[in-house]
Amino acid sequence: MTAKISFTLNGKPWTGNVHPLKRLLDTLREDAGLTGTKEGCGEGECGACTVFLDGQVVMSCMVPTCQAEGKKVTTIEGLVSDGDLHPMQDCFIQEGGAQCGICTPGMIMAAVAYANDPDSAEDMREALAGNLCRCTGYTRIYESVKKAMEKMSVSEIR
Ligand code: FES
Ligand code: FES
Repeated sequence: MTAKISFTLNGKPWTGNVHPLKRLLDTLREDAGLTGTKEGCGEGECGACTVFLDGQVVMSCMVPTCQAEGKKVTTIEGLVSDGDLHPMQDCFIQEGGAQCGICTPGMIMAAVAYANDPDSAEDMREALAGNLCRCTGYTRIYESVKKAMEKMSVSEIR
């Protein structure tokens, strides 16, 4: 049984016919064609599937699509503005914060949320504690986030 579900996806209206309990992760990848959001564990443990739902960080593998009805969903693709990468995306490239890339979109979303609201966590490590990476050893990830936060001006925080 599918149902018509509508939400704002990266600033644009989106409507699809999906099972209300289909994971938001799958709806984004399969129905909306946005494959930037990755699946790691599928159990809410790794953070690879992190997106924003009404500006809040959520694990999209744990969110039924019906919960997004009428809300704003932002994915890694939504961080690009007028074709320009977000400073966080840029810095992950420049500082080698990504290797296999599976954790990277979720890591960047969590890092942007922290950069937008540094009071949301004790420090960067705590802010990213829900996002697991099995490749980089984290040092380059932390360097990437640090550099991006130095570069980000108020107008770039979105
Ligand atoms: S895939 Fe969602 S938390 Fe791991
Ligand atoms: S870059 Fe491979 S899991 Fe993080």
